[in-house]
Order: sequence, then structure tokens, then C-alpha cells
Amino acid sequence: MTDSVTKPEQNNDETKTGAPVFRRSKNILAVASGKGGVGKTWFSITLSHALAKAGKKVLLFDGDLGLANVDVQLGLMPRRDLNDVIRGRLSIEKVIQRYEDGGFDIIAGRSGQASLSALPSQRLSMLRDQLLEVSDKYDVVVVDLGAGVDRTVRMFSATAIHTLLVTTDEPTSLTDAYAFIKLGNAAGVSKNVSIVANAASSPAEGERTYKTLLKACENFLKLSPQLAGIIRQDPKVKDCIRHQTPILTRSPNADASEDVEKIAAKAIKILQGAQKVSALNN
Ligand SMILES: Nc1ncnc2c1ncn2[C@@H]1O[C@H](COP(=O)(O)OP(=O)(O)OP(=O)(O)O)[C@@H](O)[C@H]1O
Ligand SMILES: [Mg+2]
Repeated sequence: MTDSVTKPEQNNDETKTGAPVFRRSKNILAVASGKGGVGKTWFSITLSHALAKAGKKVLLFDGDLGLANVDVQLGLMPRRDLNDVIRGRLSIEKVIQRYEDGGFDIIAGRSGQASLSALPSQRLSMLRDQLLEVSDKYDVVVVDLGAGVDRTVRMFSATAIHTLLVTTDEPTSLTDAYAFIKLGNAAGVSKNVSIVANAASSPAEGERTYKTLLKACENFLKLSPQLAGIIRQDPKVKDCIRHQTPILTRSPNADASEDVEKIAAKAIKILQGAQKVSALNN
């Protein structure tokens, strides 16, 4: 992999050095990728479910504001969603819905609303502040982000205490994951990123995917993101999405289910470690 990524433009939420100037959460885990279609939404849902099964109080926030998919993958028809919050019609608490089958709460986004994918900075900051406030009521908040590295993605990732970066072995996915880390590094937040190698044809191949990304990060950025885990390619994933049923309900013993449950256990440890560091720094 070569390094050809340039620095992002500044925005109101970043200082001249690119460092975020706002409060970082204690318990928000962002799920990002760079390239689209690598399994972020499916992973965010399954991770939330696994964390709930492990006894955590979990909120899943659909942070892909203009192309929301969490509700679609779960077959939900939310009557209230983030659009109501952003338009100032409802407080964020009012749009939380309980997803009984999974034992966790959801804040749904709105799909096909172009205005949500390009929110003015002020509205985006207000949304972030409301999410931070509501996050106090949970052990973990999982934020499913959109593809790419736009302002919304960067802001939620910078607000999160940790970002799980999903990649597959495809060169474009790896390049975009590297770009995500590089841009985050410029903003001073890439130390809090770990890698999820998804849709691996075998654990060894997943390990190779991780090592490729790790090498690029070490060579060009002097960063060594840890491996959060490997998820095997599994036909049950598509089957469950088609049936709009979470994999941990429909196929709890599937390879991909087992893999995400392992990542959930690791995520709890990562979160605890990050919380300790953040307590020491405050
Ligand atoms: N471990 C896996 N095994 C097999 N297929 C997978 C796996 N993970 C994801 N997929 C496939 O990838 C597709 C895309 O998943 P998903 O919609 O969650 O991606 P995404 O990263 O959220 O996409 P977007 O960037 O558009 O939001 C799914 O429909 C599923 O078929
Ligand atoms: Mg998605």
C-alpha cells in the first residue's frame, strides 16, 4: 500500500492543529469503514446485540444520517427518528425505541433525506451534544457511521471514545481504511482506532488483511492500531439480512455470530482500558 492521502479541510469543530475541541464520550463506540458496503451496519447491529446479551445496557445510534439502514436490516418501521430531533420537533429521548428481540435500544435515522447528509455544523454539533447527554444512561452506545470521511463521520468518530474500523481484504477497502486512519491522525484521534477484518475467507486471511493495514500505518504514520477481531465470510449474514432478523437470533451458532461475540468481549475490554486512560487524563 502506498500513501497518497491528503489532509482534510478544517471545520468549526477543529482547532488549527486539527485537534477536536469538544468533549469525548465515555462510552460511545463508533463503527466506521472508509469504503462503503463492507458490513458496518450489519456489524453494528450484531455487536449491539452481543453486548446486550453480555448484560450491557446498549443504545444503537444510526449515524448514517441520510442513508439510514439499521431499521431496514431489522425490519422496523420507526414512527419517530432523527429527522424529528434535527428539526427540533422532539428531544432525542423521545425517538429512542426499544428493540425487544435484541434487548437493546435504537435511535433510527432517516433514509433518502438529502438535507440530513449535509447538515449545517451547528445542527450537527447540537445532535452530538444530545447524543452525549443521552449516552450517560447507557453502558455502551454503538454508532453506525456512513461510508467515507465526511464531516459527520469525522465528528462522530472524534466524539467516540473508540472507533472500530471495518475493512475487508479488497484493496479499495484497505486503502480507504488507511485514509480514515490518516485523516483521524491529522485530527489527533487515530490512537483510539482498532481494526475489524470482515468477510474473511479464513482466519489466516483476516490476519493478513490486518497485517497489511498495520504495516502501512506503522510505515507512514508510526501508528499501530490493534486488531479488534476477524469475522469470517458467512452466507448466514446475507440470509439474516434478507429475513430482516438479527443473526444472533436466527443463527446464533454461525461462524459470523461467534466471531462478533468474541469482538464484543474484546470491545468491553477496549472500552474499559480507554475509560481508565481518559480518567487519568482528566
Ligand atoms: N461476514 C460477512 N459474511 C458475508 N457477507 C457479509 C459479511 N459482512 C457483510 N456482508 C455483506 O455485506 C453487505 C453490506 O453490509 P452492510 O449494509 O452492513 O454494509 P455497510 O458497510 O453498512 O454499507 P454502507 O457503507 O452502504 O452503509 C451485506 O448485505 C452482507 O451481504
Ligand atoms: Mg451501513
